[in-house]
Amino acid sequence: MSTVFIGLMSGTSLDGVDGVLVDFASGGPAPLQVLAHRHAEFDAELRAELLALNRPGADEIHRVALAGNRLARSYADVVASLLQESGLAAERVTAVGCHGQTVRHRPGEFDGIGYTVQINAPALLAELCGIDVVADFRSRDVAAGGQGAPLVPAFHRALFHRPGQATAALNLGGIANLSAIAADGSTIGFDSGPANALLDFWCSATTGRRFDANGAWAAGGAVDVALLDALMAEPYFALQPPKSTGRDLFNAAWLESRLASSGARARLPAQDVQATLAELTARTAAEAVRRHAGPARELIVCGGGAFNVDLMRRLAALLTPLSVRSSAERGLPPDQVEACAFAWLARAFVRREPGNLPSVTGAGGPRSLGALYPGRSAAST
Ligand SMILES: Nc1ncnc2c1ncn2[C@@H]1O[C@H](COP(=O)(O)OP(=O)(O)OP(=O)(O)O)[C@@H](O)[C@H]1O
Ligand SMILES: [Mg+2]
Repeated sequence: MSTVFIGLMSGTSLDGVDGVLVDFASGGPAPLQVLAHRHAEFDAELRAELLALNRPGADEIHRVALAGNRLARSYADVVASLLQESGLAAERVTAVGCHGQTVRHRPGEFDGIGYTVQINAPALLAELCGIDVVADFRSRDVAAGGQGAPLVPAFHRALFHRPGQATAALNLGGIANLSAIAADGSTIGFDSGPANALLDFWCSATTGRRFDANGAWAAGGAVDVALLDALMAEPYFALQPPKSTGRDLFNAAWLESRLASSGARARLPAQDVQATLAELTARTAAEAVRRHAGPARELIVCGGGAFNVDLMRRLAALLTPLSVRSSAERGLPPDQVEACAFAWLARAFVRREPGNLPSVTGAGGPRSLGALYPGRSAAST
């Protein structure tokens, strides 16, 4: 079995797909080497449909099935680019770890088990790329009583932990999630609150730009205390981990109701709302770090939000004297970390090693995460 894997992540920001082709045989201090990285933006129509599928609507089963096929074609294009860029043949890749697109995340609710839904068409992806596909990483953890999220803390530990040193890692995707890794390696992790999902929503709704490049627009606004208080009053922030969230909670309606209740809707310039949302992300993440990662001397930030200069400045200001730095300074660019995590989880699945950390998700125990869709083996061609 080759040590080469592909990881594919399309997260709740709905920006597109990040794919990496990695080799776990590095032999050096890093657990893996990235041989190729590719980001493919969703086209506006697919993004709009995926966003719409986050809310209840008509004819969902049909639309989810077709959205899955469209996603699988996008994923397959990314796989083809990665193979081309690395010069490797498909046969060299042991498996593709493909997260899919989360549109509902309600673990532990309703009947006590609840569900988490990632749109995907892994059979089509396996058919298109001819490589084994491992998909559906979260449902087994939910079945075992866990949150099914976040799954990345185990990878953060493998990547960033140095024995004897406590470390904290923060992923700023659509939602922000923290991994708090103690000096002895014991790890907790949870979603601290909204990040780019709300920042992107407000920016695109009011300026037409999909996101606030480098946070420049937010940086020129003023934080509004009344709105910030209304946002911070959300009970989710005070919950003890394990906990995870998504667009089910932090969506346009959530923001609109707080804009209305704080009176900000009528009086506040749009730019100040953006600044206040950036401050909300920074405050809730900083509070999570202070409460749960106290001994850490550094916060390693990954995800697209690590490119948001304004957000990074707010985090650093709130967490002084802790050093806040991009994962790039630890050898892995911020936009590659999550995709690498799903390559790493696919490898864990293939080796029948547990992928979850029960101390993070609250699951009843360690579980092998994922389901296998075999590629084009000799028997199937
Ligand atoms: N230069 C930049 N300035 C500001 N924000 C940026 C920049 N580059 C990326 N981003 C933000 O990062 C987002 C994409 O981040 P990312 O892909 O990590 O999120 P995600 O897809 O939700 O991932 P996940 O759910 O796995 O955490 C974009 O939608 C945008 O908001
Ligand atoms: Mg993304």
